[in-house]
Amino acid sequence: MKLKAILVGCGDRTCVYANYAINQFHGIEVVAAVDPDIERQKYVNEHFNVPLEKCYSDISEVLSQGKIADLVINGTMDHLHISTSIPFLKQGYDLVLEKPITNNEKDLLELAKVAKENNCKVMICHVLRFSPLYRGIKEILLSGEIGKIIHMNTSERVGAYHSSVSYLRGKWNSEAKCGSSFLLAKCCHDIDLITWLNNETRPVSVYSDGTRNYFNKEDAPIGSGNRCLVDCPEHIRNKCIYNAEVMYIKNDLLPWYPWQCMGKNYQEVTLEEKIESLKTNNPHGRCVFKCEGDLLNHQEVIIKFANGSMACHTLVLGAMKAERTIHIVGTLGEIEASASSGIVCVRTFNKETDGYNERVIEYSDKHGETGGHFGGDKGLVADFLAYFSGGKPSISTTTIDDSIIGHLAVFDADESVKRKAVIPFNHKI
Ligand SMILES: NC(=O)c1ccc[n+]([C@@H]2O[C@H](COP(=O)([O-])OP(=O)(O)OC[C@H]3O[C@@H](n4cnc5c(N)ncnc54)[C@H](O)[C@@H]3O)[C@@H](O)[C@H]2O)c1
Repeated sequence: MKLKAILVGCGDRTCVYANYAINQFHGIEVVAAVDPDIERQKYVNEHFNVPLEKCYSDISEVLSQGKIADLVINGTMDHLHISTSIPFLKQGYDLVLEKPITNNEKDLLELAKVAKENNCKVMICHVLRFSPLYRGIKEILLSGEIGKIIHMNTSERVGAYHSSVSYLRGKWNSEAKCGSSFLLAKCCHDIDLITWLNNETRPVSVYSDGTRNYFNKEDAPIGSGNRCLVDCPEHIRNKCIYNAEVMYIKNDLLPWYPWQCMGKNYQEVTLEEKIESLKTNNPHGRCVFKCEGDLLNHQEVIIKFANGSMACHTLVLGAMKAERTIHIVGTLGEIEASASSGIVCVRTFNKETDGYNERVIEYSDKHGETGGHFGGDKGLVADFLAYFSGGKPSISTTTIDDSIIGHLAVFDADESVKRKAVIPFNHKI
């Protein structure tokens, strides 16, 4: 039987999940959608058969009808998650909520409390947990093959293109504006992976440091302009990694971001319109060094756990090759993996050679079939459909109780940067 769903915030993420849930798993029927943007209402009408009279601009129009569905998929922007979720929880809806849940402990714990009081299931979109690669690593850990975790080293190197379109020119470029720090916006996934993979124990302290030592206006090439296609001399712009013309017109990667401001679906934007917008009011047409961003551009996070194990995470903007890596040393062996290659190496002691045995597992996506986040988007949808239909949580299921640990560690890390101190993980949870 199909679950009845309401879509709240019908942008990129919500539509990715709705598409899998409707067209691949045939698991939901969308009975209402909320988005103040009329173009997004038209999109869900055309793609998911939501009648236009069931598309609303404000959640109050749905809430006033009482409980009309089983679940809500909430993919609003970061700062709206709490105000657009708690009212639905109070009416007893199960909830799929995009990360980050929120940017502060008080709201985080309030959401968890309201969910519990109203018997609601909440799943947070920590999609990487559902990718075959990270789920595979969790299974190896649970099998005991590498023993108990001693140390974990993870990294997220954000490629120059993604850095630019999201964290330098894009809508996550300022903590003041979007509510999320660089760590919270980008790496609450990684910190969640760390606390989930090591969930035999709990964090006891968090230390972090980072700076913004690049992408400031002083770092702009001498003589550069304010807009690449307007006043940046050709000899400068041709050498610049972040030339908007090359990134968004020639290569056109992640196209749903640079053309979002155009008031129509990105597939319908013409070349002439793209050029005109980059020259005039499109934020992605600005010089990447002159966007008034206030995020750190690199950061280290060190988490110490109650059993003495530790994890160290590195994040950095502007890498040439986008990559996520993980290396776990256990008491009996080690696991090393890179998300871009989809390769996991498991090494255990070889007493015959005094060296090690290596088992290589390949999760590579040679035909591009697994979909976004290394297959995590699709995996998350399959998981919440099963869980919300009465199934038991899987090893990946991102229940609210589980997801708040990683979020709290992120808040502590950002606090640590500000206070230049080790922050004890003292939370009333
Ligand atoms: N899980 C992941 O890996 C992942 C990846 C990217 C983004 N995200 C997160 O997903 C969320 C959505 O990102 P996105 O890129 O899809 O954003 P988006 O801008 O494409 O979509 C947000 C939508 O919310 C609508 N909206 C604005 N105010 C609203 C309101 N009051 N009520 C209902 N709808 C409203 C907007 O019109 C827009 O259509 C963000 O929190 C982001 O951080 C998660």
